[in-house]
Amino acid sequence: MSQQKQLPLIKLPKIFDDCYLSFAQTPDHIPFTIKRVYYILKSDPKLPRGHHAHKKTRQVIFCIQWSVKLIFDVGKRKREILLEESNVGVLIDKMIWHEMTDFKNDTILLILASKVFNEKDYIRDYAQFKKQAKT
Ligand code: TYD
Repeated sequence: MSQQKQLPLIKLPKIFDDCYLSFAQTPDHIPFTIKRVYYILKSDPKLPRGHHAHKKTRQVIFCIQWSVKLIFDVGKRKREILLEESNVGVLIDKMIWHEMTDFKNDTILLILASKVFNEKDYIRDYAQFKKQAKT
């Protein structure tokens, strides 16, 4: 198990053309074929989200408006990273526990995923994740 201190960041081009325009394409920026896109907005700032790992799905999370704190654990202990630049995403590989906290009222997350939705791909129990991460 890797004792990774930080997760890989993915920096997208940011073009200023009377607005900011960023784009992501495979394989130039995203290291997998994108099978699903979803976004999260109007999240209650008091409530965390995530609290799970995926068995197979790989994801890149962008915070395209305001900021969010991402807590992650690759199997050793929890670490955190602040996502606050709209063109910088974080690669959440399979088997990485992640939680998102400190949402602002207008935080918007955009997530690109390598697989279609499947509840069976989730590990939602932290103790179970720690057990599986060891093997
Ligand atoms: P979940 O992934 O637990 O959200 P978060 O990571 O933000 O805490 O998903 C919340 C609910 O939405 C859960 O009932 C599953 C459903 N869902 C889908 O149906 N399709 C999807 O692509 C996603 C991401 C979630």
